[in-house]
Amino acid sequence: MTLSPCLQMDHYTDDPVAQGPVYSSTLQLIEVIKKLEYKKNLVSIDHVRTLFKNLQKNQFIIHAGDCAEIFSSPPRHTQVMCELFEKFFEIFNQKCTIIGRIAGQYAKPRSTPTEVINGQTVTSFFGDIINGQNIHDRTPDPYRMLKGYEHSEKVLKDIPFHLNKLKLGDSFFTGHEAYLLPFERAMIRHKNGHDFATSSHFLWVGERTRQIHLGHVKFAASIANPIGIKIGPKADIEEIKSLIRLLNPYQIKGRLSLILRLGQSMIKEQLPKLLKALKNEHVLWICDPMHGNTEKLPNGMKTRYFSKIIEETHAFFDILKAFDLTPNGIHCEASGYDHITECLDETKGIILDHMDHFQSACDPRLNALQMIELVEFCKSSLRL
Ligand code: PEP
Ligand code: CO
Repeated sequence: MTLSPCLQMDHYTDDPVAQGPVYSSTLQLIEVIKKLEYKKNLVSIDHVRTLFKNLQKNQFIIHAGDCAEIFSSPPRHTQVMCELFEKFFEIFNQKCTIIGRIAGQYAKPRSTPTEVINGQTVTSFFGDIINGQNIHDRTPDPYRMLKGYEHSEKVLKDIPFHLNKLKLGDSFFTGHEAYLLPFERAMIRHKNGHDFATSSHFLWVGERTRQIHLGHVKFAASIANPIGIKIGPKADIEEIKSLIRLLNPYQIKGRLSLILRLGQSMIKEQLPKLLKALKNEHVLWICDPMHGNTEKLPNGMKTRYFSKIIEETHAFFDILKAFDLTPNGIHCEASGYDHITECLDETKGIILDHMDHFQSACDPRLNALQMIELVEFCKSSLRL
């Protein structure tokens, strides 16, 4: 993979990183980091260990939630997400592990550092924990990390009230992209000889920051949590092998998930090549049928066709089975509401002229009905 031309530094280690905010005040940054280092864990290390054990049990794994959570979301948002998680659990007769993209999914890598809005070039929105959606609020502000901590804490407190059959830390866990390294490093806690990230149970490294010698991968290698790494259609097989050696040197099942986001048009060509080379690796195979299927509409809006999401998932199941491998799970961006119209879907009347409910702060999400259909499709494909 080629290195980004604008490398920045990991504030803790001076390792170069492919992406990350540049804060104008190092003093403010250090003040925030120190405060975070003295705060309580957001999630318990025992629960991180439970997730690790769950991931070793061959139960289907469902990651789902917002592309980007925002701090202003009302408490109802947590409630409807939890209702959706409960539905997955019912569909799978309580035999699945759910990892919500919730209570921490606040930082977003971006394809371009700036964007043009109404003719004005502004810094891109990197997620509420870094800068604001309002175009006058795009300067990275380290104090937002403290708000991120508070928001996570609040959502984590609310979640148990909205779960019935699922239990936080038992069958339900949280996960987000390990993008904002000053925050993630400040939340590391040491227990029994290991460093655990305590901002959430599961962390993954994104497609844009998974370069082997750079800071995000080094961070992932340094923690004892179960981790994931996103794999796009251009990923080099030797590079993936090196990542596996580095991130899971003892070949422990459950430690490393390869979250494939190849796209419906590439999966049939790319996945067999990957599996031929990596079939015997001790990794979990997860399908993200969202991120390889993002399209820009003529009006500038982003969307994804639901039919392509289903097709990619279908191909994932078929190809893994042909290689005698178990499909371990899916990773999706989904809203808890039925009325969201972000992913085009003629069968549900979500057509170009009726995308009135695009509310995502970043990528288009499945609405709750589409997500349930996808989960049911997974269940029937597994023939459970
Ligand atoms: C994401 O999961 O929101 C994301 C940015 O994914 P990727 O790294 O696969 O593009
Ligand atoms: Co996304």
